Amino acid sequence: MNQPLHIVILAAGQGTRMKSSLPKVLHCLAGRPLLHHVINTAETLGADGIHVVIGHGADNVKAATPSKSIHWALQSEQLGTGHAVAQALPQVPDDAKVLVLYGDVPLISTATLERLLSGLSEKSLALLTVRLSDPSGYGRILRNAEGKVTAIVEQKDASEEQKQIDEVNTGILAVMASHLKQWLPQLSNSNAQGEYYLTDVIAMAAQGGLAIEVAQPPCEEEVEGVNNRVQLATLERWYQHRQAERLMLEGATLADPSRVDIRGEVEIGRDLFIDINVVFEGRVRLGDGVRIGPNCVIRDAELEAGCEVMANSVIEEAHIGTNAHVGPFARIRPGTRLAEGSKIGNFVEVKKAIIGEGSKVNHLSYIGDAEIGRHVNVGAGTITCNYDGVNKFRTVMEDGAFIGSNSALVAPVTIGRDATIGAGSTITRDVAAGELAVARGKQRNIEGWERPRKKS
Ligand code: UD1
Ligand code: CA
Repeated sequence: MNQPLHIVILAAGQGTRMKSSLPKVLHCLAGRPLLHHVINTAETLGADGIHVVIGHGADNVKAATPSKSIHWALQSEQLGTGHAVAQALPQVPDDAKVLVLYGDVPLISTATLERLLSGLSEKSLALLTVRLSDPSGYGRILRNAEGKVTAIVEQKDASEEQKQIDEVNTGILAVMASHLKQWLPQLSNSNAQGEYYLTDVIAMAAQGGLAIEVAQPPCEEEVEGVNNRVQLATLERWYQHRQAERLMLEGATLADPSRVDIRGEVEIGRDLFIDINVVFEGRVRLGDGVRIGPNCVIRDAELEAGCEVMANSVIEEAHIGTNAHVGPFARIRPGTRLAEGSKIGNFVEVKKAIIGEGSKVNHLSYIGDAEIGRHVNVGAGTITCNYDGVNKFRTVMEDGAFIGSNSALVAPVTIGRDATIGAGSTITRDVAAGELAVARGKQRNIEGWERPRKKS
């Protein structure tokens, strides 16, 4: 069918059981709001329109979802799922296919939805159902003697016999907008919850002679909703386990697949080793043979082949060149580029700096707003004084420079090629190529010095 596809995502509910001032759909799974997972999946289906029905915390939800292409529909009173879909329909063209998703069912997959949509036509309604060992709480799927779906009955309206049915409504369905526009105004709220149930359209469709085409997801987790923080944690662990499996199948050895978290996208080469308690955020690319020690956080970074990041290091918005070493206990901040074979050691913070090939900053330093050439040795405790309280200034260390320990380089300042800085210097002026600069109090040794004695 070539009709446009419009996706309606229901997200107006309060989420009382989250016990939270944050709207439920803004709680995060894998570092992203539940609703954003659903919107992303909707986008992969190439929808012509994505409509999000909001109510509770509407302004918060909108503000947290900066996507220009979303149509917002306000449901100021939550009168039921049928009423919620009706709020979006005026913006949906009559000839469109409509797919209904839920802002609190984050892990539904593109593949399952494509399968569901393949059952949709002018003469059918496509319904996603699932069999559960414990169906309580869900709407039950009623089938006739021929096994055709005839209706959905909500738990609260179900007879004891109907409650035995283990096939339940996931809530996800697809149908032509023209049908919905005809059915939704006919919904009644005379039921146990006094709500306008979307599920009542199933009986209307069946009575109108439409075929109810049922699809099922490959696993329950895809259609599980989040109602409380226990369910949120369960889905998070399930999702993380899938991510860990993917990394292993692509060529990474994980010390413990249950102790790595991916909150974003990680692209990897082969033969990597990732130790326990590593967190990846945003977009991360890891080349062949990369090794990451325990307790590291890596966000929006590229690590080229052969890099080693040792325990307890944090890397954000940085590029780590081939065979570079970082850590243990290093902090690499945004705008850092470490060239091939460079080395950042323990208790070193680097911000917005380029560290040239083979250069080393091994111990206890702060390097900010700096450009370091090739084969520079930065001694322990060296600090770039890049900030005067108002402005930031740059420090340049040219190829082969040697910075003695405990030096303060007051920017803007340039240390020339192969220049040497004596330990403990406070450098305020440029040092030319090959020069030695020493800027510290001269040592005086006083012979025969007598220590003060205690008065008797
Ligand atoms: C619904 C289905 C039930 C199904 C279950 C699957 C109906 C009547 N029942 O029940 O058959 O088994 O989902 O989880 O559809 N929402 C709104 N506005 C409203 C009401 C709900 O936006 O006025 C949103 C909620 O935020 C939520 C979703 O719709 O994301 C489902 O609503 P909820 O009240 O949780 O429906 P259930 O009773 O779980
Ligand atoms: Ca629910």
